[in-house]
This record gives sequence, structure tokens and C-alpha cells, in this order.
Amino acid sequence: MTVHALGSLSPQQFLNEYWQKKPLVIRQAFSGFKDFLSPEELAGLALEEDVEARLIQQEDDQWQVQCGPLEEEDFLTLPESHWTLLVQTLEHWLPEVKELQQAFSFLPDWRHDDVMVSYATQGGGVGPHIDQYDVFLIQGQGKRHWRVGEPKASIQEIRPHPDLKQIADFDAIIDVVLEPGDLLYIPPQTAHDGIAIDASMTYSIGFRAPDHNALLSQLLLNLMDSEENHQSRYSDKDRQFTPTSAQLDQDIVTWCRQALTSMTDTQLLTAFGQLVTRPKYEQEPQASITGEELRYQLQTSEFSLVKNGDSTFTYFYEQEQTSDAFLILMADGENHKFQGQYGVLIENISNNNILPSKELENSFQDIDFLNEIASLINRGCIIIKQD
Ligand code: SIN
Ligand code: CO
Repeated sequence: MTVHALGSLSPQQFLNEYWQKKPLVIRQAFSGFKDFLSPEELAGLALEEDVEARLIQQEDDQWQVQCGPLEEEDFLTLPESHWTLLVQTLEHWLPEVKELQQAFSFLPDWRHDDVMVSYATQGGGVGPHIDQYDVFLIQGQGKRHWRVGEPKASIQEIRPHPDLKQIADFDAIIDVVLEPGDLLYIPPQTAHDGIAIDASMTYSIGFRAPDHNALLSQLLLNLMDSEENHQSRYSDKDRQFTPTSAQLDQDIVTWCRQALTSMTDTQLLTAFGQLVTRPKYEQEPQASITGEELRYQLQTSEFSLVKNGDSTFTYFYEQEQTSDAFLILMADGENHKFQGQYGVLIENISNNNILPSKELENSFQDIDFLNEIASLINRGCIIIKQD
């Protein structure tokens, strides 16, 4: 399988011309593509308690949606055609599926969401719809007919079923039959409809784009934990008498706005990083190593610190990268603070997923640093792998 998902386009050409702007078909972007699982294995996954699955059937204009976990019986009574089974977050259940996401690593790690897979029988699909997020669709086995509209064209929502946000028919600017290994990129808010020509699988590489409300709620959580904000209490020493005692003064707006604009870059970036690295499935604590114990291991053996494939890391420097700057790492929704001198180590594990223990030689004496790394190990974000 190739890893050059963009064919002859460079990542920058793709970003300039297509990303969030125009849909695109790339034939044989994944030539020799092999499915990661069989339809039977997919059905098996859909029976599991924690797996997010949907079974969608269509008969003329009648749509039926069943959410997982499904039961074996649900599959026994299915017709020959016109149904599709969709499973979210496939990369969590089959870690090798992350290979597909890696083919799009020209986009930031935090921008990646999950991989959804669908198996559809002839005529099956989820109906015409728009998504709020970018998606790359990779065709696995079989063929699927895709129609894609003009991005952001006006659409009419219809609800043939309360759980399906379908839209009325639309004018297509792309009308193609995808074959195994073909790729279709669809920008957000772009009408699309995929109908299986024969029994077929499609892998959707999804992306996330937080909205302001999500950021503000994370900021709020962080602020409730911080002491600083209690010092900015409302005061009104220049109060003027008003006869309307129930009315809010206009200057309240100024005070409220100050509350919103007083956020520092560190507070904003930390909240953003925490929000976009939150895991879909919470990790159980994986270890209980102390900084001291880690120091002992570092002194007596050689191993690698490996970023958990399920974890998302993102970081920023509090100031310019100088020796006394801090690097703030956000890993799976929580932040960890490191002295700037360790920035390169954290950059390495964040960007390259691996850090040989030898590179930690100069930090043996710094128990604060070792405690922070131990905490990442205990949370399951970093795994100790013996060489
Ligand atoms: C599908 O795989 O049928 C749906 C994918 C999508 O429309 O995003
Ligand atoms: Co879609």
C-alpha cells in the first residue's frame, strides 16, 4: 500500500487548492489497498458493548436506523441489499488502521479525529447529507457511486428519519464510481451521497474542528480550578445613584468583556490543547511508577519511551525557545509543564513517537522532570518498551 495519499499533489498544493475548499478524487491513491477486516469481523465488532455502531436500512422512502450494540439476530433478518453497517473509531479497536491516518500526517495530529468504516450491500448508503467536518473516503472492497455537490451550496434539510440528517437532492460537481484504493476528499458543508454498487467497504478518515463553545467550556473548567480569577471581583466605587434598581448598568458589559479578554496566551493555548487531545475512550491508569523508580530504571537499563498510539500530544512554548522558557505539553486532555531545557526531548516523543532512554541521561538528577514523565507513563500516554 502506498503512503502518498495525495498522488502527484504535494501536501502544500493540496492545502492551497483543495483543503476546506473543493472536493477531489485521487484514483489509486492507495493502490493495492487491502481491507483491514472482513464484513463478518465488522459485524462482530458491532455486537460489542463499547463499540459505536449503526445499522441503516432503506426500503423505498422508508429508512430505519438501529444503534449499537447490535445483536446477532439483527443480522440474520437482513435483506440481500439496501443496508449499511457503520462503525466509528475503528483505529481504537484495530490499531493497524492508524496506518491510514498516518497517510494524512501532513495535517496536525490534533486535527485528526477517528476512522469510520462502513460496509454496504448493493444500493446501501446513508443517504444524501452534509458533514460539519472534512473527510477523506478510501474505497476498500467493491465499488461505490459517489455524487458530491458544490461546497457550501444552499441545501434543504429533510428528515426521512429523526436520526438521519439527510438533505434533498443536489447538483453534483463530482459524479464517480470509486474502486478499491481510490480516494475522495470532501470539505465540510458539502453535499454528498454514496451508494454501493456491490457489497463494498469505505473507510472515512475524519477530522475535528472545535467550536467556540467547546473551547469556552474547557476554559471555564480550567478557570474554576485556578486561584487567580478570584482576585478580579466586581467593584463599583464610583457608583452613581440610579432610580431603576432592577436594571443592569451598561458598564457591566465592560467588566464582562474584561473577564473574557483577560485570558493569557498560555490559558488559551492550554485550554485549546486539552480540548483537542481529549481521548474518545478514557485510559485506565496503566502503571504506578514514581520519578525515583524511573531514575533507577534509567540508570540500570536501556529502553525506549514510546507514545501510546491512542494518545494525542500537542505542545507549545510559553515564551520563545530559550533555556528558561517552559514547554507545556497537552496529552490526552491534561497538561504537563516542562522546563525549556527538556523541550527537545518532549518535541521528539511528541513528533516522532519515540524517545530512547539514553537521551534522558542529563536529566537523572531532576526529580521534578522525572516525576512528570512518570505521570505520563502512569496515565498510559507513554509506554516503556524494553529494547
Ligand atoms: C459511508 O461510508 O457510507 C458514509 C461516509 C460519509 O458520508 O461520510
Ligand atoms: Co458524510
